[in-house]
Amino acid sequence: MTTLSTMPTPFPRSSTRTTMRAVELRDTFGVDSLTLAERQLPSPGPGEVLLRVRATSLNYRDYLVAVGEYDPHLRLPLVPLSDGAGEVVETGPGVTRVGVGDRVAGIFMQGWIAGPLTAEYPPTALGGAIDGMLAEYVVLDQRGVVRIPDFLTFEEAATLPCAAVTAWNALVRHSSLKAGETILVQGTGGVSLFALQFARAHGARVIATSSSDEKLKRAMELGAFEGINYRDNPDWASKAREITRDRGVDHVVDVGGPGTLGQSIDAVRESGTVCNIGLLTGFAGEVPTYKALFKEVRIQGVYVGSRAVFEDMLRAIDLHQIRPTIDRTFPMEEIRDAIRYLKSGQHFGKIVVTLGE
Ligand SMILES: NC(=O)c1ccc[n+]([C@@H]2O[C@H](COP(=O)([O-])OP(=O)(O)OC[C@H]3O[C@@H](n4cnc5c(N)ncnc54)[C@H](OP(=O)(O)O)[C@@H]3O)[C@@H](O)[C@H]2O)c1
Repeated sequence: MTTLSTMPTPFPRSSTRTTMRAVELRDTFGVDSLTLAERQLPSPGPGEVLLRVRATSLNYRDYLVAVGEYDPHLRLPLVPLSDGAGEVVETGPGVTRVGVGDRVAGIFMQGWIAGPLTAEYPPTALGGAIDGMLAEYVVLDQRGVVRIPDFLTFEEAATLPCAAVTAWNALVRHSSLKAGETILVQGTGGVSLFALQFARAHGARVIATSSSDEKLKRAMELGAFEGINYRDNPDWASKAREITRDRGVDHVVDVGGPGTLGQSIDAVRESGTVCNIGLLTGFAGEVPTYKALFKEVRIQGVYVGSRAVFEDMLRAIDLHQIRPTIDRTFPMEEIRDAIRYLKSGQHFGKIVVTLGE
């Protein structure tokens, strides 16, 4: 239960606890530039809350940020990672949305509360334009957090702000997913497995692709109807059409980008939706746009989602008791290994980074 209070709640600071540990992307880009640093323990100002971060999770974006491919102009030093969950330990004056002891997660773009994306929101993205969550304590605006369901651990909740919100935004908001429809998800990373789980919760059928038969087996255990190994079947779109008796799938969650978008358009039915989400094959490339035209396919860009989308998703996660798939957990001190493991593509689902006292 939240304590609603407009009075600031003092955090028991002591002369022995004025600093905290945080990971910083230091003077240059590169995984080896990620360094454990000591920073001043921050204080919440008016309307802000101090969180003790208990767990964070990795997204492919965090690799791109670390190596400078996401935005080479990002200001350094930078605390990385957009995703984290923890508990409120202190509130600044005027805070009413949450109280001390509440379990919360940060939202990806701190300024995007509801409605469509506008230009003012991306500069408020955690672990990119502004410092992120890989610190023992962070200060966030009270509007930039959501309360997490009781049944989820901090580790599980830390997987939600980017990958899960993106999958929900793509399927529910942009594709208006309905029971009985068929969706195709690419690979078995964070976004794709959340899309699989959300589609199943909506009564939809899922075709999963992967480079690994072993991972496809696990995707079927999670509820996928059919799996296609995209290494053994480079023309995976034809396989998807066969499975749907040549109708095509209703929606594709495209995380590949330029290298997969053409086949996503082939795989989808007339008037279907291809959500353009990922960059796994690069930032730009040739796509046969005429194919989208002649099928009236809607290609919809998706950039995570607002707090309102996050909160809609949390209600469904709570109702259906949907548990995120965590592949492996690393301690904060091993952030470099964690990022390298993400880049290796060995994982199935999410990689979590925990913070201990
Ligand atoms: N637009 C947005 O708001 C948004 C939000 C989140 C993520 N993204 C982007 O979406 C992509 C996925 O992110 P993520 O965090 O889910 O990544 P992730 O957890 O690292 O997942 C990557 C997985 O994708 C699969 N994969 C790799 N190359 C592929 C290809 N050519 N075709 C099909 N599957 C392929 C692999 O699965 P298998 O081993 O099973 O083959 C790999 O393990 C990234 O590009 C990320 O930047 C965008």
